[in-house]
Amino acid sequence: MSAFRKLDDLGDVSGKVALVRVDLNLPMRDGDVTDDTRIRAAAPTIRDLTEKGAKVLLLAHFGRPKGERSSTMSLSMVVGAVEEVIGKEVMFVPEIAGDVVAQAVGILRPGDVAILENSRFWKGEEKNDPEFAKAIAANGDFYVNDAFSAAHRAHATTEGLARLLPAYAGRSMQAELEALDKALGNPEKPVAAIVGGAKVSSKLDVLKHLVGQVDHLIIGGGMANTFLAAKGVDVGKSLCEHDLTGTANEILDAADKSGCTVHLPYDVVVAKEFAANPSSLRTCNVHEVAADEMILDVGPQAVEALGDVLKTCRTLVWNGPMGAFETEPFDMATVALARTAAALSKEGTLTSVAGGGDTVAALNHAGVAEDFSYISTAGGAFLEWMEGRELPGVAALAK
Ligand code: 3PG
Repeated sequence: MSAFRKLDDLGDVSGKVALVRVDLNLPMRDGDVTDDTRIRAAAPTIRDLTEKGAKVLLLAHFGRPKGERSSTMSLSMVVGAVEEVIGKEVMFVPEIAGDVVAQAVGILRPGDVAILENSRFWKGEEKNDPEFAKAIAANGDFYVNDAFSAAHRAHATTEGLARLLPAYAGRSMQAELEALDKALGNPEKPVAAIVGGAKVSSKLDVLKHLVGQVDHLIIGGGMANTFLAAKGVDVGKSLCEHDLTGTANEILDAADKSGCTVHLPYDVVVAKEFAANPSSLRTCNVHEVAADEMILDVGPQAVEALGDVLKTCRTLVWNGPMGAFETEPFDMATVALARTAAALSKEGTLTSVAGGGDTVAALNHAGVAEDFSYISTAGGAFLEWMEGRELPGVAALAK
């Protein structure tokens, strides 16, 4: 991991203007924020800067308005939720650069916070237009990036600004980078990765990268079916990308060559219809799936064996559920493995890092998210990091 400046490296910032990139791309329903995790993640940075007397201008995007103003994507909608989390009044500024922002800076007192309008209302944001970045930078003294979850975008507020102003990683960015470095950058071995989710196609690059990095690759969810089919198993009606069985075999070969053991389920939970507790529910060996059945979860014997694998490991990276966890009882493998990983992390024998929207929901469902060593707030950025890619927002922070 390259070295980067942190908030601890800041000198006296009293009265100075901090342009702080946060991720306020929050889940909303009927105008209300339904999950404030990302605001809570940014709160330590905001507090730190306000306590030091900086004037804090928050920069963020919301949705994908494609360079046009849209009343349904204004960041004015999240002001109340931010105020609630940071316990402070927050000014909303309906612009991102120019005189209106300069006037707002004039009104703000040291320690005050404002949110500037959705950066994606301007085309220059996604184009990473240097002129647009310069116009934003003109109203700030320094830049802080606390949005790891948007760091896979090379946009003006995630990358361009870091090149124009003294740039620092915020508290949440710092925690993400340190945790991720412990998990794949510089991990204690043996390392296991659990990769689940519906489709191999969405995680091909992740799988290809991981087989060269980890000692054990545990594949679950719908994507395991494609690997089973690649090995000649008849997966019946299961979700399966039959056109990718060749690629799955290439990944298995690459794993073999690099000494990575790939774990696929050998018993599975199947049903004829996808519904909660269906009457056709049964557990069987992967070779006994009937033509009219579908695999919906990893079976109990495989789960026990996978738990034993985790007990031999020192590091775990997890992305994606093991089964159709939102519908009972197809949450059993995910919940059981999550509990094992959490217990090992609590005992201190395993460093466990998890990320991705579904994964966090699954770990919350298992009631163990708190016991993992680190849970990333990122979705796409976490996956790109698992692919071994350099994230532009992170690279721009390098000293
Ligand atoms: C996210 O929600 O994962 C980030 O905010 C990035 O959003 P984007 O995929 O619209 O760039």
